[in-house]
Amino acid sequence: MTSRRQVLTQSAALIGAASAGMVLPARAQSTKIRIGLMLPYTGTFAQLGIACDNGFRMALEEKGNKLGGKDIEYFKVDDESEPSKGVENANKLVQRDKVDVLVGTVHSGVQMGIHKVARETGVLNIIPNAGMHAATRALCAPNVFRTSFTNSQPTLALGNVMVQKGHKKAVWITWKYAAGDEAGEGFKQGYLAAGGTIVKELGLPFPNVEFQALLTEIASIKPDAVACFFSGGGASKFIRDYAAAGLAGKIPLYGSGFLTEGLLDDELAPSAQGIITTLHYSTSLATKRNDAFRLAYAKAFKMQPDVYAVQGYDAGQLLIQGAAAVNGDFSNKKTLYTAMENAVIDSPRGKWTMSKAHNPVQDMYVRVVKGKENVVQGVAAKALSDSGAGCKLA
Ligand code: PHB
Repeated sequence: MTSRRQVLTQSAALIGAASAGMVLPARAQSTKIRIGLMLPYTGTFAQLGIACDNGFRMALEEKGNKLGGKDIEYFKVDDESEPSKGVENANKLVQRDKVDVLVGTVHSGVQMGIHKVARETGVLNIIPNAGMHAATRALCAPNVFRTSFTNSQPTLALGNVMVQKGHKKAVWITWKYAAGDEAGEGFKQGYLAAGGTIVKELGLPFPNVEFQALLTEIASIKPDAVACFFSGGGASKFIRDYAAAGLAGKIPLYGSGFLTEGLLDDELAPSAQGIITTLHYSTSLATKRNDAFRLAYAKAFKMQPDVYAVQGYDAGQLLIQGAAAVNGDFSNKKTLYTAMENAVIDSPRGKWTMSKAHNPVQDMYVRVVKGKENVVQGVAAKALSDSGAGCKLA
């Protein structure tokens, strides 16, 4: 083993060499594939970031931790879901650690920072969650791929479900940032087309959880139903406050599936019964593929997977397919990207393919909370593709 003292001596020697005008190796001549994970490991989305990380590592672990025959090495940054540090954090991985691929992130605002760095440097970026439209619409890029969703995809399918249940006048409520606003766009499009009316749009800044005044307003409006986008720790608080305000069971609560995803523990479940959501996954999906995934995940991490774990796992699967096509040579970009574009991902959510704009074409499920599960009731939209509006990729 190399001691700390040896390392210090070696780096002192390197600095000496550099100041003497000698050329330093760009990297420590590593033949390993360098993978950068930029995810929230703290804050309201911490649980989501950890699940993405778990899922990704599990996919690679299943292949002996090799990509295209080469060993891998991980680099990790906690982005804290803090948009103002997005560019700086992405650059830690790209410029400092010289990663071959950046896997991240969860929060759409932080994704803007990663996207800027990805476009400027050309580094391969796989998005395991954040749904910001621009990444696979107007600002789409050959080196940026998403294994999750666009923010409007899950809510596009929600409006029809609500109208079919006779809920034609709804209040929409969300955090006011890209993910909430774009989820609202999707909801509006689907709900209006199905014949619904949005009577009021309410919002609060991310990651604020002071819901009381807004819930009082909802109670006074008395809509047929409420639809929302919340996620992680904030979603859990919203569900509990909704019940505590006496609204649960009186004004049905709907949302994109993030509202209840990965959150239904003993404490939250009683407040969440009957909440209906739409999402591209449910832990309760009864397929062989999902059963096997659940079992393996539970064994490895001593907990149940959720949609974030699946998206991370599929980011790993996508990278494995790409790397195999170039035998681990990430400089062969054309072949790498073509393989990733043509990949068919055998996901626990069901098989899916990439749209031309590099976003999943996937089924959306209707789920209802029963006990501690999001029980699948049916498919709300089959092979749903995002519009990819403004994307100029061939
Ligand atoms: C996002 O910011 O894009 C985001 C965050 C959490 C989710 C979904 C989307 O559950």
